[in-house]
Amino acid sequence: MGLYSETIFPWLLDATLSHPRIMARRQALVAGARGDVLEIGFGSGATLPFYDPATVSSLTVVEPSEGMNRRAAARLKDSPVPVRSVPGAGERLPFGDASFDTVVCCLTLCSVADVGQVLAEVKRVLKPGGRFLFLEHVLSDDPARQRWQHRLTPIQKVIGVGCHLDRPSAALVRAAGFQLDPLPALEEEPAFGAMKPLVPLVMGAAIRV
Ligand SMILES: C[S@@+](CC[C@H](N)C(=O)[O-])C[C@H]1O[C@@H](n2cnc3c(N)ncnc32)[C@H](O)[C@@H]1O
Repeated sequence: MGLYSETIFPWLLDATLSHPRIMARRQALVAGARGDVLEIGFGSGATLPFYDPATVSSLTVVEPSEGMNRRAAARLKDSPVPVRSVPGAGERLPFGDASFDTVVCCLTLCSVADVGQVLAEVKRVLKPGGRFLFLEHVLSDDPARQRWQHRLTPIQKVIGVGCHLDRPSAALVRAAGFQLDPLPALEEEPAFGAMKPLVPLVMGAAIRV
């Protein structure tokens, strides 16, 4: 793959998404992880320090980008929990049915090629009663902002290597058959500066019924 997607973008992502406010959100997200955990779209491994060995027995991570995996390698050595990194993509997870107690996606559903297929795979690999923990930026509920999100998504897909500004990810999780009621509220994140109206965040814990 190209210099931008495999070298510059992973660096850029680390620089922008390592803001203390975003790190605090990552910590809150993975605080809910229990048992055997799968994280999809692991990136450079920014969530890794927050997995708690008191509640997490094992962590499996899937990340398709070699550039991201290279950056993550250094972090894997200091993992607080036993971790294995598996190359692959969320649309086709190389695991058996009902393999995990928890699946985590952190700012990843925006970037996958086929979000419906990824959610079907999350459901398949989760044990009944298992939890899908997600932190995502999503489609706004304000029509004027939605229009800008739709307009800017073609540019964002280039800058953000496939990232969509206009995915209603929490609603898609519920539509995929997870128990998620009510839908979690959207929150503006000051760390995103002038872009914050166009990248509202949503954090949720959906149950695999
Ligand atoms: C915006 S980054 C977020 C990375 C990391 N989760 C974080 O919070 O810093 C999106 C990640 O999703 C990964 N990704 C893209 N398509 C994917 C797919 N089909 N399956 C799994 N991960 C994917 C990208 O390579 C990238 O690492």
